[in-house]
Amino acid sequence: MCGIVGILGAGPVAGQIVEALKRLEYRGYDSAGIATLESGRLARRRAEGKLKNLELRLLEEPLRGAVGIGHTRWATHGKPTETNAHPHASHRLAVVHNGIIENFRELREELTRKGHAFSTETDSEVVAHLVTDLMDGGLPPHEAVMAALPQLKGAFALAFLFDRQGDLLIGARRGAPLAVGYGEGEMYLGSDALALAPFTDTIAYLEEGDCVVLSRAGAAYHDASGRVVNRAKQKSLASAFMIDKGNYRHFMAKEIHEQAEVVGRTLAHYLDMSEGAVRLPFDVPFDLAGVERLTISACGTAYMAGLTAKYWFERIARVPVDIDVASEFRYREAPMTRGGVTIVVSQSGETADTLASLRYAKQCGQNIVGVVNVATSTMARESDVVALTLAGPEIGVASTKAFTCQLAVLACLALAIGRARGTLARDAERRFVDELIALPGLIAEAMGVEPKIEAVARDLSRVRDVLYLGRGTSYPLALEGALKLKELSYIHAEGYAAGELKHGPIALIDEAMPVIVLAPNDAVFEKTVSNMQEVAARGGRIILIGDGDAAKAASVDVEAVIAMPVVAPTFAPIVYAIPIQLIAYHTAVFMGKDADQPRNLAKSVTVE
Ligand code: F6R
Repeated sequence: MCGIVGILGAGPVAGQIVEALKRLEYRGYDSAGIATLESGRLARRRAEGKLKNLELRLLEEPLRGAVGIGHTRWATHGKPTETNAHPHASHRLAVVHNGIIENFRELREELTRKGHAFSTETDSEVVAHLVTDLMDGGLPPHEAVMAALPQLKGAFALAFLFDRQGDLLIGARRGAPLAVGYGEGEMYLGSDALALAPFTDTIAYLEEGDCVVLSRAGAAYHDASGRVVNRAKQKSLASAFMIDKGNYRHFMAKEIHEQAEVVGRTLAHYLDMSEGAVRLPFDVPFDLAGVERLTISACGTAYMAGLTAKYWFERIARVPVDIDVASEFRYREAPMTRGGVTIVVSQSGETADTLASLRYAKQCGQNIVGVVNVATSTMARESDVVALTLAGPEIGVASTKAFTCQLAVLACLALAIGRARGTLARDAERRFVDELIALPGLIAEAMGVEPKIEAVARDLSRVRDVLYLGRGTSYPLALEGALKLKELSYIHAEGYAAGELKHGPIALIDEAMPVIVLAPNDAVFEKTVSNMQEVAARGGRIILIGDGDAAKAASVDVEAVIAMPVVAPTFAPIVYAIPIQLIAYHTAVFMGKDADQPRNLAKSVTVE
């Protein structure tokens, strides 16, 4: 889950490579590096930490070459030091790598025996030495790369630059994405089209096992067996999206505030608003009426979206749902019936565990529905039905707008399956659709709680632990609230089903630990009030997120009320996501943490 770039340019490319890496920093930001040919010879600049450190290094020691490669790293093997930063180089070549080379130890031992000296702790360096070894044996660059690829085990995307080869870049992909960009007398490689959007919107994607040889005149593709193949050029939409923070201090703040718009855009794609009906924007190649059971697999925030949707599928469509985090599901060997339906949920569409779940379910003969935000992603390509979330590029590492758009799509799928199975009457569908149509307005209204949340966040920034409680669909949201707070502020937080409180976690309650209770005015509101009373009776500090009037009527002693607009209960999580995101964001900002790029994280987790 690193980001890689390569540019064969018309002039100096270092600035363009940095520009592209900025758009890939979401994939990792432990170190960054760049290599170019200076008067035909390989030269590198690398720096520990974020890209800005590399930019400073380049100011001190500029690179002027017209061909180069770049990398932004999420460390897997070896500490995030400058030595371990990519590109890795030999006297013949430099290489950048995204992914994991699983057999690097064996290869390293073998190459060491042959006299290669390794200088890093990374798995990636072995690629540089392996290809060098083959070139030392007399192979030209592209043959050496193609001979090396079958020897590598694992998942990777690679870009190579060669000493004294001013019109050559080579890329390869297996299990990690790689795009080729076509410019005016320039050619590009990038982990995604977004990275290349400042330079071109004409993109082709490498397929599994492909290797591409670039010159300024074009690209020659070879498939895994070495055959010359054609990979279709397509117009990327990535450049249509503005990748800047606007007037916001962080991408995360901008993305939180975009939600009324992007949830509205997503719903408009799935609903016939004038008819008050769901209208799926794709053909479904299986019978929705015959859906007897659903399996959902996803990671992190996308998993919380799936867990919320379980309540909707079960209640509205009366379909039982199995849901598991993808890292467990992929190895659980769950029995699955042929012809069943598995839904994978993923912003990036590249998350390794979710992709493995998709492939397992497919092997079992399941129909795959991919709820993804990136239309060109591997999961989108491998799904039978692609249910796109129209959130636009999400740059903040913590997922916000992708989450609410996932919820919006999953809600529409629940209605569509309910209608097909006859569990959702026409008037109920119309009522649910009206409730969905109201959501963008309610999300906008919910942003009004921000000043209150800033005050709450100032207090939270001084505590050590926080508990989130919720029942029904507020339970997954409690988990999501805790995840958001811990990943952004590094405060320890836990989410619990409110009814579970008395089965253990109540022992934690004291005056030092804030308890954030999510309590929309739904069927289980009174039950949640009882749980709040249990907390209050033990001196706990309650921060209640609820509809203002209901909260007043509850007459529990609370420290703060975040008064939400009145929301119809079924889809309330799509609105109640706003305060939990704002709490995490403002707490992190008060604590001086980097809200867009929290420590140790990366946006796209393409390794296990
Ligand atoms: C948390 C977060 C992660 C992702 C998870 C899955 O804020 O963003 O938990 O949700 O890594 O990523 P995708 O959705 O790309 O599969």
